[in-house]
This record gives sequence, structure tokens and C-alpha cells, in this order.
Amino acid sequence: MRIAMIGTGYVGLVSGACFSDFGHQVVCVDKDADKIAALRDGVMPIYEPGLEGLVEHNVGGGRLSFTTDLAEAVDGVDAVFIAVGTPSRRGDGHADLSYVYAAAREIATALTGPAVVVTKSTVPVGTGDEVERLIRETAPDAEVSVASNPEFLREGAAIADFKHPDRIVVGVEDDHARDVLEAIYRPLNLNKAPLLFTTRRTAEVIKYAANAFLATKITFINEMADLCEEVGADVQSVSRGIGLDNRIGPKFLHAGPGYGGSCFPKDTLALLKTAEDAQVPLRIVESVVKVNDARKRAMGRKVVKAMNGDVRGKTVALLGLTFKPNTDDMRDSPAISIVQALQDEGAKIRAYDPEGTEQAKLVLENVDFCDDPYTAADGADALVIVTEWDQFRALDLKRVTDILNQPVLVDLRNIYSADEANQAGLRYTGIGQPKKAV
Ligand code: UDX
Repeated sequence: MRIAMIGTGYVGLVSGACFSDFGHQVVCVDKDADKIAALRDGVMPIYEPGLEGLVEHNVGGGRLSFTTDLAEAVDGVDAVFIAVGTPSRRGDGHADLSYVYAAAREIATALTGPAVVVTKSTVPVGTGDEVERLIRETAPDAEVSVASNPEFLREGAAIADFKHPDRIVVGVEDDHARDVLEAIYRPLNLNKAPLLFTTRRTAEVIKYAANAFLATKITFINEMADLCEEVGADVQSVSRGIGLDNRIGPKFLHAGPGYGGSCFPKDTLALLKTAEDAQVPLRIVESVVKVNDARKRAMGRKVVKAMNGDVRGKTVALLGLTFKPNTDDMRDSPAISIVQALQDEGAKIRAYDPEGTEQAKLVLENVDFCDDPYTAADGADALVIVTEWDQFRALDLKRVTDILNQPVLVDLRNIYSADEANQAGLRYTGIGQPKKAV
């Protein structure tokens, strides 16, 4: 199949590279000429494990190319995927659809033959209808079908997620779109990936419902963690105890400093706006958003408490700044609220992140960025693990104790146990652990 991918952000680039790896002919388009020039030189705009090699392999094989020329890219294709950004609209939390609609108009002008236009960007229910209306308005004679194919990729595991999806959701309104998308995803038949066909509106709702449910699951266990701390229970055992129930499942039950990233915060807000417009209050999702926002800042207070209530003039070393490991993405990372809360209390912040430093510098002020975990810890009054990068999982805790000014370890991801930290001479605070173990 011949495919054009509009937008070389996270979703577009990963999807385009993976489609080409299946053997499809893919042209990725972006308005940003510098980005396209860099991609042509093999330089990735984001950090994602395995992406660079995948792009290189498929560019080398003549299946993947990059251009700023949308008209050239869509000429003669079977499908055009719209994978441009849908950020939160400034001020009201609605998804900003201006890039999606601009792309739809441009595609309409450029199409030369019959094609399926597929929205991959995360878009509120009804956007597919509007994309179709815009295309028909711009090019009344164009033979187009408009479909919805939301993505469920996790940053840091995006390529594996794309190639081994739990399911592929496709919303179509006609048989042609169904046939084309079936052909595009045929290579995944081998992996027995379920291909779920539904209507366009339903597909759009599935995407938001999935993210809202996952955000709810995380927030649920985070509140349980708070309860565990007060009543002398251990949240990790609670997660295991409930997660082994097949109806609940063990995933997304890891208590932590609150969810962040490019999807959950933005998509939950956008879903609430859709619900408000439809006059159907989603009270559970409303609570999830509030609880998660409050939690991120509360993590700063947790650190202050672990340092006996006073951090003025003291140095706090943070390990991990990105919203999760294996990405350089700082969007809505809990680290941002934690740094702010600690600075408001007068603390000095040092930090180390394996991949996120450049992005972190754009959003964090007055932070002393270090080159490795031990330099960050050296002479600090507390060490705080914010993101569970693998390289933090086997720190030499005795060495950490020796170089810290005060032996305080706050582990917001529960990657250590209180026992092993105590044995190394550290005062340990985790998430959702009984107070006596601290
Ligand atoms: C998410 C969805 O998983 C993906 O399907 C969707 O397409 C985009 O949004 P992503 O944002 O990359 O993917 O990260 P994810 O691994 O889902 O984690 C999101 C946040 O939740 C992170 O801040 C993470 O630390 C947090 N989290 C996740 C927890 O705190 N506990 C968990 O058990 C799982």
C-alpha cells in the first residue's frame, strides 16, 4: 500500500516507520523544514528506543522518505494518515483541532485519486465528521472515505506496541475504507492482533475512554497508597492482591507521584470538555484530574516532610525528571510540580536525568543539572527518585549514604525496599508503605 503520513511528531514518525517496516511505501510529511532535513540525515526529533535504526533501515530499503511537500506526498496514495498534534487549547482545555483541519483542507486540495483519509491524531468525537465535511467542501469531486484509527502507543515502548498491539481500532463508514485499512494492517495478522472495526464516532470515543480509564486506574491506586500510609498497610501488596483478580488485572496499578505525559493529562481534559458540551457530566474523570493535579504538588510536601519539615537553604537531588523512563518527554511531568513546590519552600535543586536534561532545561528554572546520579547526590540533603529509569534500580546505596549530607532517600516509584535502604544507612520514604517501615 502507498501511504502518506502527515505530521512527523511522536505518533506520525513511529507509525510511518513501522508501516514502512511492514513493507508499505510511506512518505512522511512535515511543515517543519529543519525537522525534515534532520530526518533525512538520520537525526530523530525525539528519543525513542529503536526508532533511529528502524528509520535508517527503511530509508535504506527505499520504503520510507521525508518531505515538506504535502501535494507530492499524497499523489497517488491509497491512504493519508493525519497525525498532527492536538494540544490542549490555551485557556479552556478543549483539544486544539486547527492543525487537523488545516491538514484536511490541504489534503483535499492535493488528492489526485481515490484515497482513505485516516485520523490518527487523538481527536474528540465528531472530528471525523468535520474532516469529511471540510474535504467535501474543498474538493466536492474527490473520491474520499474518512476513517478513524486511534493509536495506543506508549512512549518508550512505541515500536513494540505498534508491532504487537493488544488491538487495532478502526472506525469506518464504508467498505472501501474498511478494505484499505484491513490491507494496511494485514501484516499484523501473523501476531494475531485483533482488528476491531466499528463506526468512526465509536472509534473516537474508544481512544478517550481507554486513556481516561487508565488514568483512573493509576489515580485509584495512588489514593489507596495514601490510605495505606495512614493505616499501616503496603500498597505494593495491595496492588498484587487486587491485580491477580482477572477482572482487575495487574497493570497500571503501580502507585507513584501521579501520571504525566503527552496523553493522559491532555486527553482527560479534552474528554471532560466533550462531556460538558454533551451535557453528560463525567464525575469520575473530573475527580481523577483534580486528584492527580493535587498529587504532583503533594509529592513536594512529602519530600519536605522526609527532611523533617524544613528545606530552606538545603539541597535536594532529584533522579529522573521525565514523566516516565525511556523518553525525553517532560510534558506534564510530576517533576515540574515537585521542583516548583520545593523551590517555593526555599530548597536548592540538583537533578540528573539520563535523556531528559535538554527538554528539562526548557521548563525548569534554577536547577543545577548533573552528569550522573552520584554527582547529583554528592553533598545533597536528600535524594529523591522521581522517575524509575533502569539505571537507578541498582545504585550503590552505601556509596549514596556516604556522599549525601543527610542520609535521606525519598523513593517516589518504590524501586527500593525500606529494608535495603535502612541497611545501607538511609532513612527511607516510599509510596504507600506502612509508617513503621520508614
Ligand atoms: C499513554 C497510554 O498508555 C497510551 O496507550 C496512549 O496512546 C498515550 O498515553 P504514555 O503517556 O506514553 O502512554 O505512558 P504510560 O506508560 O501510559 O504512562 C503514563 C503515566 O502514568 C506516566 O507518568 C507513568 O509514570 C504513570 N503510571 C503508569 C503510573 O504512575 N503507574 C502505572 O502503573 C502506570
